[in-house]
Amino acid sequence: MNPWLLTYDGFDPAQEGLREALTTLGNGYFATRGAACEARADGVCYPGTYLAGCYDRLTSHVAGRPVDNEDLVNAPNWLPLTFRAGGGEWFSPGGGARILTWHRRLDMLRGTLSWVVRVRDRAGRTTCLEQRRLVSMDDPHLAALHVTVTPEDWSGPLEVRSALDGRVVNAGVARYRDLDGRHLVPVAAHASGGVAEVLVRTAASRVEIALAARTTMAGARPRPRAGRGLAGCDLAVEVRAGEAVHVEKVVAVHTSRDRAISSAAEAARAAVVWAAGFEELLARHTRAWERIWTRAHVASEDAEVQQILNLYAFHLLQTASPHVTDLDVGLPARGLHGEAYRGHVFWDELFVFPYLAPRFPEITEALLRYRWRRLPEARRAARAAGFAGAMFPWQSGSDGREETPALHFNPRSGRWLPDNSHLQRHVGLAVAYNVWRHYLATKDAALLAGFGGELLLEVARFFASLASFEGGRYSIRGVMGPDEYHDGRPGGAAPGLDDNAYTNVMTAWLMRRVLEASDLVGTVGPGGLTAQEAERFADMAARMRVCFHDGVISQFEGYGELAELDWERYRRTYGDIRRLDRILEAEGDTPNRYKASKQADVLMLFHLLGQDGLAEILTGLGYDWDAGAAERTVDYYLARTCHGSTLSAIVHAEVLARIRPGASEPFLVEALGSDVRDVQGGTTAEGIHLGAMAGVLSLFEPADPAG
Ligand code: BGC
Repeated sequence: MNPWLLTYDGFDPAQEGLREALTTLGNGYFATRGAACEARADGVCYPGTYLAGCYDRLTSHVAGRPVDNEDLVNAPNWLPLTFRAGGGEWFSPGGGARILTWHRRLDMLRGTLSWVVRVRDRAGRTTCLEQRRLVSMDDPHLAALHVTVTPEDWSGPLEVRSALDGRVVNAGVARYRDLDGRHLVPVAAHASGGVAEVLVRTAASRVEIALAARTTMAGARPRPRAGRGLAGCDLAVEVRAGEAVHVEKVVAVHTSRDRAISSAAEAARAAVVWAAGFEELLARHTRAWERIWTRAHVASEDAEVQQILNLYAFHLLQTASPHVTDLDVGLPARGLHGEAYRGHVFWDELFVFPYLAPRFPEITEALLRYRWRRLPEARRAARAAGFAGAMFPWQSGSDGREETPALHFNPRSGRWLPDNSHLQRHVGLAVAYNVWRHYLATKDAALLAGFGGELLLEVARFFASLASFEGGRYSIRGVMGPDEYHDGRPGGAAPGLDDNAYTNVMTAWLMRRVLEASDLVGTVGPGGLTAQEAERFADMAARMRVCFHDGVISQFEGYGELAELDWERYRRTYGDIRRLDRILEAEGDTPNRYKASKQADVLMLFHLLGQDGLAEILTGLGYDWDAGAAERTVDYYLARTCHGSTLSAIVHAEVLARIRPGASEPFLVEALGSDVRDVQGGTTAEGIHLGAMAGVLSLFEPADPAG
């Protein structure tokens, strides 16, 4: 087995979405799913292309109310390239031709996707296609296709049809089908000779997206074609059986947000006219990947594991690539690989920094700058809610406002339900933790004195104002922890929980770090903290409240009073109970009533701080805490977590490896399989899970906890 290759044989409609996601090619500026270039979005194939940071907002009407959604936009499709023999039917995977061979191969070392396809049309003519594809890691605005067409047993006219298609919509996630996905407004489309151009504009954010393509085939004069939102050309030659014909398509993508351009359309046109041919683009692209791999590689002695590590590093670096240093983009939880979670940015970079910061600190710095540029919005959000500092949104997109949808859909019950997950204020703590991780990797004191320190301080100010001092301790009320299955007390008047241990302990951790940063460099951020703030932060570091029950940390106040779930019965009845929330809601019940968590919540503390770091904070808070309490706590939540997020296996694998190595293995296996085996039952087709992918890499090369 070659650990640099991921190969799939045969055209399997049920697997196509997953395969497309896992064979996506990208360069941080944009990415294109590994759909066949002859495919249309038809419920089986979904050729999506996503530009980092290119969002658009639309209002839809669901459950009798208007809801706003900001989506990562599915950009015009640059792939379309197909052929027909002797004036027959244009080939497409779901069409009338019989597919004899369908072999797809992702080469992670070189960053290419190739196909060998043999098809027999209705007239019995057999044609072999060998395709190679790249999305340039050398020049982030370029992509290219090379196709060798060989008529195996026929001679006659061969026609090739190449196009750019701007008529696409966002329709990659079935659950969102009630939401409007028509983000692209066609502006212009024309073709001249072998060069085609399509210009569209996003509906509300008014970003112009321009694509230009140059298609060539030796001996053929292109016949241009253009219509609304679509441009391309047809090329025709006479072929003889056994003689190969080569077709090349080079594509350029620009948007009106790019730097150093006059207009997106002109930039795309110039880029494609002056672009080198496929082989030269490939050589430069491969060299760019070689440079990345010298820093990215994580080694394993097991070839199968090595293949997975390569795949996960590959997809991570196609999203958070060295090119993001010149962009204003965050880390979309599901990559640039699909439309799940609408391309939003959550807290998942928390799982990415331990791997990325020591290897590519320029990339983690760029990701932190995405947050820093959105500080004004986070400050406004805090002010609007009556707090100080900066309140980062649980889901972030273009400008950093809260993008968490008001409603989410339960496919099991068919009901739209209120989504309270924006109460996960801990996302700000993740931003701060990432600043610290980046600092630990770089020892860059200027970061703490500059924008990184400003982030730390503004998040700390927010949590200081969120906390209330009651009965000698600081409490944080009305929030959610990482476990999304608990968004309120059973029968509670308002959503939200009190004293989520994860939030409170990480707040104590943050207060310590802000004070440490101030000691280290004499200031935190350009303004520094006042003496009054320093005093308050020190007090919070010593007096945050943590609740306990049965000798373990309570996930939140009152957790110990919840009912025990009949795990046996649910497993027997439903088999897979990862999405216990959907199961219970469909039964008219709610996970809020039970001691049953979606993912690691208390255990996140062990993961981020290490056992010693956690002990230091808890004893610093004046609580009795020892190794026995740690073990009891881990066991307690281990028995009450259903792992409805891929992040859960990462945390459990890592924490158990330190505390109870024997119990870690199944979680490691689950984590390794998260995307390659699509363990969450079909979610990878809608986008990869970047946090889990990067988390797996860290499991193999653990960083020290930042406790
Ligand atoms: C998890 C979150 C995560 C999000 C995006 C959810 O299922 O519960 O922790 O941030 O997915 O990956």
